[in-house]
Amino acid sequence: MLFEKEIEKVGYLSRSVPEGINLKEAILALKKEKNAIILAHYYVSEDIQSIADFVGDSLALAQASKKASSDIIVFCGVHFMAETAKILNPNTKVILPDLNAGCSLADSAPEDDFRAFKNSYPDAVVVSYINCSSEVKSMSDYICTSSNAIEVVNAIPKDKRIIFAPDKNLGLYVQKVTGRELILWEGACVVHVNISVDKLDALVIKYPSAELIAHPECLPEILDKAKFVGSTKALLDYVQKSPVEQFIVATEAGILYQMKQAVPNKLIIPAPALESNSCACSECPYMKMNTLEKLYNALYYELPEIQVKESTQEGALKALNNMLSI
Ligand code: 13P
Ligand code: SF4
Repeated sequence: MLFEKEIEKVGYLSRSVPEGINLKEAILALKKEKNAIILAHYYVSEDIQSIADFVGDSLALAQASKKASSDIIVFCGVHFMAETAKILNPNTKVILPDLNAGCSLADSAPEDDFRAFKNSYPDAVVVSYINCSSEVKSMSDYICTSSNAIEVVNAIPKDKRIIFAPDKNLGLYVQKVTGRELILWEGACVVHVNISVDKLDALVIKYPSAELIAHPECLPEILDKAKFVGSTKALLDYVQKSPVEQFIVATEAGILYQMKQAVPNKLIIPAPALESNSCACSECPYMKMNTLEKLYNALYYELPEIQVKESTQEGALKALNNMLSI
Protein backbone atom coordinates (compact mmCIF):
# COMPACT_ATOMS: atom_id res chain seq x y z
CA MET A 1 0.00 0.00 0.00
CA LEU A 2 1.25 3.48 -0.91
CA PHE A 3 0.80 4.80 2.61
CA GLU A 4 2.99 2.07 4.17
CA LYS A 5 5.72 2.47 1.57
CA GLU A 6 5.86 6.17 2.28
CA ILE A 7 6.14 5.52 6.01
CA GLU A 8 9.23 3.34 5.36
CA LYS A 9 10.86 6.16 3.45
CA VAL A 10 10.54 8.73 6.21
CA GLY A 11 13.48 7.63 8.34
CA TYR A 12 14.97 11.01 7.41
CA LEU A 13 12.41 12.66 9.64
CA SER A 14 14.49 11.77 12.67
CA ARG A 15 17.48 13.52 11.05
CA SER A 16 18.32 16.63 13.03
CA VAL A 17 18.18 20.03 11.39
CA PRO A 18 21.44 22.02 10.95
CA GLU A 19 22.86 23.24 14.28
CA GLY A 20 22.22 26.83 15.36
CA ILE A 21 19.61 27.36 12.66
CA ASN A 22 16.65 29.69 13.27
CA LEU A 23 13.96 27.25 12.25
CA LYS A 24 11.20 29.73 11.53
CA GLU A 25 13.47 31.89 9.35
CA ALA A 26 14.89 28.82 7.59
CA ILE A 27 11.39 27.51 6.83
CA LEU A 28 10.28 30.85 5.42
CA ALA A 29 13.41 31.06 3.23
CA LEU A 30 12.94 27.48 1.94
CA LYS A 31 9.29 28.15 1.29
CA LYS A 32 10.15 31.16 -0.87
CA GLU A 33 12.93 29.34 -2.72
CA LYS A 34 10.63 26.43 -3.55
CA ASN A 35 7.50 28.45 -4.28
CA ALA A 36 5.62 26.58 -1.57
CA ILE A 37 2.60 27.55 0.51
CA ILE A 38 2.08 26.47 4.13
CA LEU A 39 -1.50 25.63 5.07
CA ALA A 40 -2.24 24.90 8.73
CA HIS A 41 -5.23 23.76 10.75
CA TYR A 42 -6.15 25.65 13.94
CA TYR A 43 -5.17 22.61 16.00
CA VAL A 44 -1.43 22.60 15.14
CA SER A 45 1.10 24.30 17.44
CA GLU A 46 1.24 28.07 17.81
CA ASP A 47 4.75 28.06 16.31
CA ILE A 48 3.47 26.61 13.08
CA GLN A 49 0.29 28.69 12.99
CA SER A 50 2.45 31.82 13.38
CA ILE A 51 4.39 31.18 10.14
CA ALA A 52 1.65 29.59 8.01
CA ASP A 53 0.36 31.39 4.91
CA PHE A 54 -3.16 30.35 5.79
CA VAL A 55 -4.71 28.94 8.97
CA GLY A 56 -8.26 27.62 8.82
CA ASP A 57 -10.82 24.94 9.57
CA SER A 58 -11.37 21.90 7.36
CA LEU A 59 -13.67 23.67 4.90
CA ALA A 60 -11.53 26.78 4.51
CA LEU A 61 -8.41 24.62 4.10
CA ALA A 62 -10.09 22.54 1.38
CA GLN A 63 -11.07 25.75 -0.43
CA ALA A 64 -7.56 27.20 -0.04
CA SER A 65 -6.00 23.96 -1.34
CA LYS A 66 -8.20 23.99 -4.40
CA LYS A 67 -7.19 27.49 -5.41
CA ALA A 68 -3.47 27.27 -4.45
CA SER A 69 -1.21 28.10 -7.40
CA SER A 70 2.17 27.37 -5.74
CA ASP A 71 4.42 24.47 -6.80
CA ILE A 72 4.14 22.82 -3.38
CA ILE A 73 1.48 22.74 -0.66
CA VAL A 74 2.92 21.87 2.76
CA PHE A 75 -0.08 20.75 4.76
CA CYS A 76 0.35 21.14 8.51
CA GLY A 77 -2.61 19.10 9.62
CA VAL A 78 -3.49 15.42 9.37
CA HIS A 79 -3.38 12.86 6.59
CA PHE A 80 -7.00 13.10 5.38
CA MET A 81 -6.62 16.89 5.03
CA ALA A 82 -3.45 16.65 2.94
CA GLU A 83 -5.10 13.90 0.88
CA THR A 84 -8.11 16.16 0.31
CA ALA A 85 -5.75 18.92 -0.87
CA LYS A 86 -4.18 16.49 -3.36
CA ILE A 87 -7.59 15.35 -4.63
CA LEU A 88 -8.71 18.96 -5.15
CA ASN A 89 -5.40 20.11 -6.65
CA PRO A 90 -3.92 16.97 -8.27
CA ASN A 91 -1.17 18.73 -10.25
CA THR A 92 0.43 20.29 -7.18
CA LYS A 93 2.91 18.44 -4.98
CA VAL A 94 1.35 18.04 -1.51
CA ILE A 95 3.54 17.18 1.47
CA LEU A 96 2.60 16.40 5.06
CA PRO A 97 5.38 16.87 7.67
CA ASP A 98 4.55 13.56 9.41
CA LEU A 99 2.81 10.79 7.52
CA ASN A 100 1.76 9.20 10.80
CA ALA A 101 -0.51 12.15 11.54
CA GLY A 102 -3.79 10.23 11.19
CA CYS A 103 -7.24 10.76 12.69
CA SER A 104 -9.39 8.55 14.92
CA LEU A 105 -12.46 9.35 12.84
CA ALA A 106 -10.84 8.44 9.52
CA ASP A 107 -9.43 5.26 11.11
CA SER A 108 -12.88 4.27 12.39
CA ALA A 109 -14.14 3.69 8.84
CA PRO A 110 -11.96 1.10 7.04
CA GLU A 111 -12.70 0.84 3.32
CA ASP A 112 -14.12 -2.71 3.26
CA ASP A 113 -16.29 -2.29 6.36
CA PHE A 114 -17.68 0.94 4.99
CA ARG A 115 -18.45 -0.67 1.62
CA ALA A 116 -20.38 -3.46 3.35
CA PHE A 117 -22.29 -0.90 5.46
CA LYS A 118 -23.17 1.16 2.41
CA ASN A 119 -24.26 -1.95 0.50
CA SER A 120 -26.74 -2.81 3.24
CA TYR A 121 -28.63 0.44 2.47
CA PRO A 122 -28.52 0.43 -1.36
CA ASP A 123 -30.99 3.31 -1.80
CA ALA A 124 -29.41 5.68 0.69
CA VAL A 125 -27.52 8.85 -0.22
CA VAL A 126 -24.08 8.81 1.44
CA VAL A 127 -22.86 11.95 3.21
CA SER A 128 -19.36 11.57 4.62
CA TYR A 129 -17.64 13.97 6.96
CA ILE A 130 -14.39 15.13 5.38
CA ASN A 131 -12.50 13.30 8.18
CA CYS A 132 -12.32 10.04 6.23
CA SER A 133 -10.03 8.30 3.74
CA SER A 134 -10.10 8.93 -0.02
CA GLU A 135 -11.56 5.42 -0.39
CA VAL A 136 -14.55 6.33 1.80
CA LYS A 137 -14.87 9.68 0.02
CA SER A 138 -15.01 7.88 -3.32
CA MET A 139 -17.95 5.78 -2.04
CA SER A 140 -19.82 8.93 -0.96
CA ASP A 141 -22.27 11.18 -2.77
CA TYR A 142 -21.43 14.25 -0.73
CA ILE A 143 -18.64 15.27 1.59
CA CYS A 144 -19.37 17.72 4.40
CA THR A 145 -17.39 19.48 7.11
CA SER A 146 -18.52 20.69 10.50
CA SER A 147 -19.15 24.11 8.84
CA ASN A 148 -21.68 22.88 6.31
CA ALA A 149 -23.03 19.47 7.43
CA ILE A 150 -26.50 20.93 8.07
CA GLU A 151 -26.66 22.65 4.65
CA VAL A 152 -25.47 19.49 2.88
CA VAL A 153 -28.10 17.30 4.57
CA ASN A 154 -30.80 19.91 3.93
CA ALA A 155 -29.87 19.92 0.22
CA ILE A 156 -30.84 16.24 -0.13
CA PRO A 157 -34.45 15.55 -1.18
CA LYS A 158 -36.68 14.74 1.83
CA ASP A 159 -37.72 11.33 0.47
CA LYS A 160 -34.13 10.03 0.43
CA ARG A 161 -32.60 8.01 3.26
CA ILE A 162 -29.17 9.30 4.27
CA ILE A 163 -26.10 7.47 5.56
CA PHE A 164 -24.00 9.85 7.66
CA ALA A 165 -20.42 8.78 8.47
CA PRO A 166 -18.04 8.52 10.24
CA ASP A 167 -18.74 10.89 13.19
CA LYS A 168 -21.73 9.73 15.22
CA ASN A 169 -21.79 12.83 17.46
CA LEU A 170 -21.83 15.24 14.54
CA GLY A 171 -24.47 13.00 12.92
CA LEU A 172 -26.67 13.10 16.03
CA TYR A 173 -26.35 16.89 16.12
CA VAL A 174 -27.23 17.25 12.42
CA GLN A 175 -30.16 14.88 12.96
CA LYS A 176 -31.43 17.06 15.82
CA VAL A 177 -31.10 20.34 13.91
CA THR A 178 -32.47 19.15 10.55
CA GLY A 179 -35.11 16.75 11.88
CA ARG A 180 -33.90 14.19 9.30
CA GLU A 181 -33.39 10.60 10.43
CA LEU A 182 -29.82 9.59 9.58
CA ILE A 183 -28.24 6.15 9.34
CA LEU A 184 -25.19 6.69 11.52
CA TRP A 185 -21.73 5.14 11.46
CA GLU A 186 -20.23 4.58 14.94
CA GLY A 187 -17.12 6.76 14.80
CA ALA A 188 -15.85 9.45 17.17
CA CYS A 189 -13.08 11.99 17.58
CA VAL A 190 -10.79 10.94 20.43
CA VAL A 191 -10.12 14.59 21.27
CA HIS A 192 -13.70 15.78 21.56
CA VAL A 193 -14.99 12.73 23.44
CA ASN A 194 -12.03 13.17 25.82
CA ILE A 195 -13.65 16.30 27.25
CA SER A 196 -14.90 15.52 30.75
CA VAL A 197 -18.60 16.28 31.23
CA ASP A 198 -18.23 16.33 35.04
CA LYS A 199 -15.25 18.68 35.03
CA LEU A 200 -17.00 20.86 32.48
CA ASP A 201 -20.07 21.12 34.72
CA ALA A 202 -17.81 22.18 37.60
CA LEU A 203 -16.18 24.83 35.40
CA VAL A 204 -19.57 26.20 34.36
CA ILE A 205 -20.44 26.61 38.06
CA LYS A 206 -17.06 28.23 38.78
CA TYR A 207 -17.48 30.76 35.95
CA PRO A 208 -21.20 31.69 35.98
CA SER A 209 -20.72 34.58 33.53
CA ALA A 210 -18.94 32.42 30.97
CA GLU A 211 -20.75 31.02 27.93
CA LEU A 212 -20.14 27.41 26.97
CA ILE A 213 -19.48 27.03 23.24
CA ALA A 214 -18.74 23.67 21.61
CA HIS A 215 -17.63 21.87 18.46
CA PRO A 216 -20.25 19.42 17.09
CA GLU A 217 -17.84 16.47 17.46
CA CYS A 218 -18.45 16.74 21.25
CA LEU A 219 -20.76 14.35 23.13
CA PRO A 220 -24.51 15.17 22.93
CA GLU A 221 -24.65 15.95 26.68
CA ILE A 222 -22.14 18.75 26.09
CA LEU A 223 -23.84 20.05 22.93
CA ASP A 224 -27.18 20.15 24.75
CA LYS A 225 -25.71 22.52 27.33
CA ALA A 226 -23.79 24.71 24.88
CA LYS A 227 -24.98 28.22 24.08
CA PHE A 228 -23.44 27.96 20.61
CA VAL A 229 -22.32 24.97 18.51
CA GLY A 230 -20.11 25.38 15.47
CA SER A 231 -16.99 24.48 13.52
CA THR A 232 -13.62 25.69 14.71
CA LYS A 233 -13.91 28.81 12.55
CA ALA A 234 -17.49 29.45 13.64
CA LEU A 235 -16.38 29.29 17.30
CA LEU A 236 -13.60 31.79 16.56
CA ASP A 237 -16.05 34.14 14.83
CA TYR A 238 -18.54 33.76 17.68
CA VAL A 239 -16.16 34.92 20.44
CA GLN A 240 -15.37 37.99 18.33
CA LYS A 241 -18.94 38.96 17.54
CA SER A 242 -20.55 38.17 20.89
CA PRO A 243 -20.72 40.93 23.52
CA VAL A 244 -19.99 38.27 26.19
CA GLU A 245 -16.58 38.58 27.92
CA GLN A 246 -15.91 35.00 29.08
CA PHE A 247 -16.13 31.69 27.23
CA ILE A 248 -15.56 28.03 28.01
CA VAL A 249 -14.49 26.47 24.72
CA ALA A 250 -15.21 22.77 24.20
CA THR A 251 -12.88 21.77 21.38
CA GLU A 252 -9.19 21.14 20.71
CA ALA A 253 -7.07 23.68 22.57
CA GLY A 254 -5.11 24.86 19.50
CA ILE A 255 -7.91 27.28 18.60
CA LEU A 256 -7.17 29.26 21.78
CA TYR A 257 -4.08 30.75 20.11
CA GLN A 258 -6.26 32.45 17.47
CA MET A 259 -8.99 33.38 19.98
CA LYS A 260 -6.54 35.04 22.36
CA GLN A 261 -5.11 37.07 19.49
CA ALA A 262 -8.55 38.03 18.20
CA VAL A 263 -10.04 38.99 21.59
CA PRO A 264 -7.10 39.61 23.95
CA ASN A 265 -9.29 41.21 26.60
CA LYS A 266 -11.78 38.36 26.86
CA LEU A 267 -11.33 35.31 29.11
CA ILE A 268 -11.08 32.12 27.07
CA ILE A 269 -11.10 28.91 29.11
CA PRO A 270 -10.41 25.52 27.48
CA ALA A 271 -12.81 22.70 28.36
CA PRO A 272 -11.09 20.16 30.65
CA ALA A 273 -9.95 16.72 29.54
CA LEU A 274 -10.89 13.50 31.37
CA GLU A 275 -7.36 12.89 32.63
CA SER A 276 -5.15 15.62 34.10
CA ASN A 277 -2.42 16.79 31.74
CA SER A 278 -0.10 19.76 31.48
CA CYS A 279 -2.59 22.03 29.70
CA ALA A 280 -5.68 20.69 31.56
CA CYS A 281 -7.35 20.59 28.13
CA SER A 282 -7.94 18.23 25.21
CA GLU A 283 -5.26 18.14 22.51
CA CYS A 284 -5.11 16.18 19.24
CA PRO A 285 -2.05 13.93 19.35
CA TYR A 286 -2.07 13.66 15.54
CA MET A 287 -2.14 17.40 14.87
CA LYS A 288 0.64 17.87 17.43
CA MET A 289 2.88 15.51 15.40
CA ASN A 290 3.54 18.53 13.18
CA THR A 291 6.67 20.24 14.52
CA LEU A 292 8.91 22.99 13.14
CA GLU A 293 11.73 20.43 12.70
CA LYS A 294 9.54 18.10 10.66
CA LEU A 295 8.17 21.01 8.67
CA TYR A 296 11.71 22.13 7.85
CA ASN A 297 12.76 18.62 6.77
CA ALA A 298 9.58 18.09 4.79
CA LEU A 299 10.17 21.31 2.84
CA TYR A 300 13.88 20.58 2.40
CA TYR A 301 13.40 17.02 1.11
CA GLU A 302 9.92 17.63 -0.38
CA LEU A 303 8.80 14.50 1.43
CA PRO A 304 6.65 12.70 2.43
CA GLU A 305 4.56 13.37 -0.62
CA ILE A 306 0.86 12.54 -0.60
CA GLN A 307 -0.41 10.32 -3.41
CA VAL A 308 -4.01 9.39 -4.10
CA LYS A 309 -4.91 6.10 -5.77
CA GLU A 310 -6.21 6.63 -9.31
CA SER A 311 -9.19 4.42 -8.50
CA THR A 312 -10.39 6.78 -5.75
CA GLN A 313 -9.43 10.18 -7.21
CA GLU A 314 -12.43 10.63 -9.50
CA GLY A 315 -15.14 9.53 -7.07
CA ALA A 316 -13.63 11.44 -4.15
CA LEU A 317 -13.29 14.62 -6.24
CA LYS A 318 -16.91 14.34 -7.34
CA ALA A 319 -18.14 14.02 -3.74
CA LEU A 320 -15.95 16.95 -2.65
CA ASN A 321 -17.14 19.12 -5.53
CA ASN A 322 -20.75 18.25 -4.67
CA MET A 323 -20.06 19.78 -1.26
CA LEU A 324 -18.20 22.82 -2.58
CA SER A 325 -21.00 23.61 -5.00
CA ILE A 326 -23.61 23.84 -2.18
P1 13P B 1 -13.26 21.66 11.66
O1 13P B 1 -11.92 22.04 11.14
O2 13P B 1 -14.24 21.50 10.56
O3 13P B 1 -13.74 22.54 12.74
O4 13P B 1 -13.09 20.19 12.28
C1 13P B 1 -12.33 20.00 13.41
C2 13P B 1 -11.54 18.79 13.36
O5 13P B 1 -11.63 17.93 14.19
C3 13P B 1 -10.59 18.66 12.30
O6 13P B 1 -9.98 17.44 12.36
FE1 SF4 C 1 -9.24 13.59 13.97
FE2 SF4 C 1 -10.26 14.57 16.22
FE3 SF4 C 1 -7.69 14.99 15.67
FE4 SF4 C 1 -9.61 16.23 14.24
S1 SF4 C 1 -9.18 16.51 16.38
S2 SF4 C 1 -7.79 15.18 13.45
S3 SF4 C 1 -11.21 14.66 14.21
S4 SF4 C 1 -8.68 12.99 16.05
